[in-house]
Amino acid sequence: MTSLTASHAADLVAALLFILSLAGLSQHRTSRAGVVYGIAGMVLALVATVVVAAQSITAGAVALIVLAMALGAAIGLWRARRVEMTQMPELIAVLHSFVGLAAVLVGWNSYLEVEAHGTAQTRIGADLLGIHHAEVFIGIFIGAVTFTGSIVAFLKLSARIESRPLMLPGKNALNLGALGAFVALTVWFTISPDLPLMIAVTALALALGWHLVASIGGGDMPVVVSMLNSYSGWAAAAAGFLLDNNLLIVTGALVGSSGAYLSYIMCKAMNRSFISVIAGGFGIEAPTGGGEEQGEHREVRAAEAAEMLARARSVIITPGYGMAVAQAQHPVAELTRQLRERGVEVRFGVHPVAGRLPGHMNVLLAEAKVPYDIVLEMDEINDDFADTSVVLVIGANDTVNPAATEDPASPIAGMPVLRVWEAEQVIVFKRSMASGYAGVQNPLFFRGNNGMLFGDAKQSVEEILRELGTNGGQGAAPAARQTTVAGR
Ligand code: TAP
Repeated sequence: MTSLTASHAADLVAALLFILSLAGLSQHRTSRAGVVYGIAGMVLALVATVVVAAQSITAGAVALIVLAMALGAAIGLWRARRVEMTQMPELIAVLHSFVGLAAVLVGWNSYLEVEAHGTAQTRIGADLLGIHHAEVFIGIFIGAVTFTGSIVAFLKLSARIESRPLMLPGKNALNLGALGAFVALTVWFTISPDLPLMIAVTALALALGWHLVASIGGGDMPVVVSMLNSYSGWAAAAAGFLLDNNLLIVTGALVGSSGAYLSYIMCKAMNRSFISVIAGGFGIEAPTGGGEEQGEHREVRAAEAAEMLARARSVIITPGYGMAVAQAQHPVAELTRQLRERGVEVRFGVHPVAGRLPGHMNVLLAEAKVPYDIVLEMDEINDDFADTSVVLVIGANDTVNPAATEDPASPIAGMPVLRVWEAEQVIVFKRSMASGYAGVQNPLFFRGNNGMLFGDAKQSVEEILRELGTNGGQGAAPAARQTTVAGR
């Protein structure tokens, strides 16, 4: 077997491992195996690529590649070990930006190589030059949009800039104009591949990527993150064409199509138009609702919450981003165990975009060993709230906001939410009256059947556990009920 055949065989096996990885990652039970398949595929792909490259480049160049890989791996391991679960989305956004930047650099390198040597020292036949120019242009365009788009996503997710949508006058016309200009420039470039056109398309795509993501409001950011994941896949596939690397094309297409499908599913779950979101909020008007105060709220203490839980027949827990921040999943799992031992029916209702990552809450609950069969998706549990004694909203806000269904002017209008307010009693665990990620005040907090349990969610749940332990939650001292005017 020649080394080239061996490398093609390795590519094929790596591609199969990536497909197995995606299949594994689609379910809790098989997700660990999915990660192992992905790692195995990537190791195989890297080794095969370096072995093949080693045959046509100098030993010094191979040493440089290995050095770069070792350096990258060391930085990756260091960051992965330090990153908090709550910072994962912003880390992913940064990683997407690297893929985009790499695609831009590959495109520029490919262009300059052909400019410097003609087609003589490259694999490109003179008759295929036009196609090569189009590949360069498209690769740079997708890469640059991914690069700046991911940087804006990083800035928004890490709260370094506001998550509110940027509403430039004529923003839709700007986006459409940029797309039209890209098509025209591509045609021009295939006829006359000049440097100013390369500079123009790079600048245009960088600006478009920035504008597309800046125009998306906080509530739609989950879709943007998975959309950028998709773009980074297509950017990698475009780089694969330029580098003549089949595995990169296949891997890029897998990431691109699975990311696009995930974006589509998320749009459906959030009742958003897929086209509108990928077109930078096309057709979405500036939101008129906001984080204004909405009346009076009632405060409850842990002792009162324990009392309600001890008397409850059925409890639904709806976790959100605050559970991840507080790392409250372990005491929440312990509370679940204790309540179930007392004969209370306990289930979890997980919103598709709760937290900051697809599946964020499921990962935390699985880590705390909450049984899978009591963790239900929004559609599976939404009709059961009306027949539930107590709902514990642990650090969730936007995902339980009735304004989404009741206020057409709300920025999150139309987004399906967990209808927690239909239960007999609701207890919201959070630290203040601050709004959630979308920056929208939550009318749930001011409903008659709702109580606010202020404080860090982990400490509050631990206090409830202590109350249940000391006096079984029965006859707990009446909680200091407060009725206060809402403040931010
Ligand atoms: P959010 O609306 O983000 O609200 C989380 C709440 O947790 C906040 O109101 C905060 O209030 C509270 N909190 C924070 N730290 C806490 C702590 N230590 N203890 C107790 N409470 C704490 O949460 P959600 O309902 O999960 O909604 C998710 C939002 O993020 C949606 O708008 C979604 O579109 C967006 N998003 C989701 C994703 C994905 S893929 N899931 C990605 C990007 C964006 P206090 O500050 O008052 O405590």
